[in-house]
Amino acid sequence: MTELTRNESLEPMWEQLRADGCINGRQVLIHKCLDSTNTTALNLAAAGIPAGTVVAADSQSAGRGRLGRKWQSPPGLGLYFSIITRPRLSLNDLTKITLTAGLALRTAILAVSALETELKWPNDILWQGRKMAGILTECEAQSAKGRATIIGIGLNINSEPDNFPSETGRRMVSLRTATNRSYDRGLILTAVTEAVEREVKRLENGDFAAILRDWRRWDASSGKQLTWLKPDGMPVCGMSLGPDEDGVLRIKDSTGLIHQVISGDLRLQDEGKKY
Ligand code: BTN
Repeated sequence: MTELTRNESLEPMWEQLRADGCINGRQVLIHKCLDSTNTTALNLAAAGIPAGTVVAADSQSAGRGRLGRKWQSPPGLGLYFSIITRPRLSLNDLTKITLTAGLALRTAILAVSALETELKWPNDILWQGRKMAGILTECEAQSAKGRATIIGIGLNINSEPDNFPSETGRRMVSLRTATNRSYDRGLILTAVTEAVEREVKRLENGDFAAILRDWRRWDASSGKQLTWLKPDGMPVCGMSLGPDEDGVLRIKDSTGLIHQVISGDLRLQDEGKKY
């Protein structure tokens, strides 16, 4: 009898997904290691792979985050995956897709663990002010099958506090730390994929107003003070008014001026300090 690896013995659903290569009729490609699941998904999308395909990896050597940041992706401790979608939406709707995926991710986390998390515009899932997951939405150039949108999700699952690098570790948290138990990544991948598909359909059906209403219920920053680092590096301090009907974040500064945020870094005043 061959000896079982840690993942095989503790994650039967993950191993089953790896062997089956599908979730409810959707193709799931689980790799041991990739540079970035988003990069692989973008290449597969350009080659015409069907919408709904999921690309996952046990680890990533060059996982990407927003604003050119790295996403630490050590083997087995998190979920790193990308969903290929071809929604009937325009390029201007990218933020809406990210917000929609965030809401879906929150719903799936709640379903599998009963944990209540919060959403931070545009792409973070927080627990007690610390980051549990992030989303990187990227678009492929128009191909024969229409433009693909890649929803890349990184979720800290079974990591311990000292698995995070010291520079960022204080601001990160895993589902295991928050709930005191470990998880089969296969269970979570299935739940998140189904939730994302459901919510993206709702978005395609023109229901963004309803999605936004749900999103705002869990908004970690609405009414709170935050600092926005503009793309040119200039800081703006003010109170978050939450996203508007297009998903664009509004911040009111001390002079009453309302800023519209479409990119750049946002730091909540109490982020990473509560836990
Ligand atoms: C962020 O918080 O800045 C977004 C992080 C997104 C990380 C995920 S991991 C899977 C997918 N592949 C990547 O290279 N990035 C995303």
